[in-house]
Amino acid sequence: MIVTKNLTSIAEIYKTDKLEHGYTAVYEKYFENIRDHKLQILEIGIADGKSLLMWSDYFKNSNIIGIDIHKIDIKEKKLDRNNIKVHQGSQSDEKFINELINQYGNFNIIIDDGSHLKKDVIKSFNLLFPHLNNNGLYIVEDMQTAYNHFFGGNPFDLKYSNSHMNFFKHLTDRLNYQEIANPFYISNKYDAKITNVSFYHNLVFVRKGVNDKLSKEVLNHSYEDMKFKEKSSRLGKKTRYYLKYKVFYKIYTFLFMIFNILKRLLLLRF
Ligand SMILES: C[S@@+](CC[C@H](N)C(=O)[O-])C[C@H]1O[C@@H](n2cnc3c(N)ncnc32)[C@H](O)[C@@H]1O
Repeated sequence: MIVTKNLTSIAEIYKTDKLEHGYTAVYEKYFENIRDHKLQILEIGIADGKSLLMWSDYFKNSNIIGIDIHKIDIKEKKLDRNNIKVHQGSQSDEKFINELINQYGNFNIIIDDGSHLKKDVIKSFNLLFPHLNNNGLYIVEDMQTAYNHFFGGNPFDLKYSNSHMNFFKHLTDRLNYQEIANPFYISNKYDAKITNVSFYHNLVFVRKGVNDKLSKEVLNHSYEDMKFKEKSSRLGKKTRYYLKYKVFYKIYTFLFMIFNILKRLLLLRF
């Protein structure tokens, strides 16, 4: 009888630190149903190649592509396998990333275990996310670096700093962009393209997909208009409800917007 090893058992063989960080248990939940699929998997950051060897064993039918800024000795690291490809270059070098995309096309899974510097994490997400297939996953490891100034993180302003953690936190608004009741909302390039953002200890998973469902509630069907119609048709007193919902609440919304614009300007939050 052939016993198929789970990801954690394979991680134990290669002694990858993805095991001690607790990542393999999370990965297993996402990957166990697709491990036999034919996928294109990109991992940023190779080092000793331990994780590439683990992915190579786990995703037997997939193409595992590893990139690293340093030269990797494939023979020495025992990475000379049919389903592993290795390239030297930086995760934030646009020319190098474009060459990679020209060679391999889109990816199903992208794992960023590279420099963990804010500038690289965000730049490579921006470069690579457009080349992730729908239903594909973009994963960033070691997000503890977002709380360390050495990596461009910011432990002193968790809410409003431009750390890589906040970059991913803000992606959660892309899930609900159609519900944002602000006529001056400036659309974001990731609106309609993300179906899930999940956070685990030091890990972020972003699921790409079509999220273009129209809002039923906002702007064209304001709550004030709905309430006015409902109350005045049920209870009469049209003038009273007109003043309440069409005048008072609209003025309140306008002032609320002005207050927030001024607050953001004063606190330099753009
Ligand atoms: C944490 S190690 C990777 C470990 C490997 N993924 C594993 O789990 O076995 C990080 C690697 O990222 C590489 N690296 C650092 N900066 C990079 C960059 N800008 N682009 C690509 N790789 C980078 C380093 O050379 C190092 O080998």
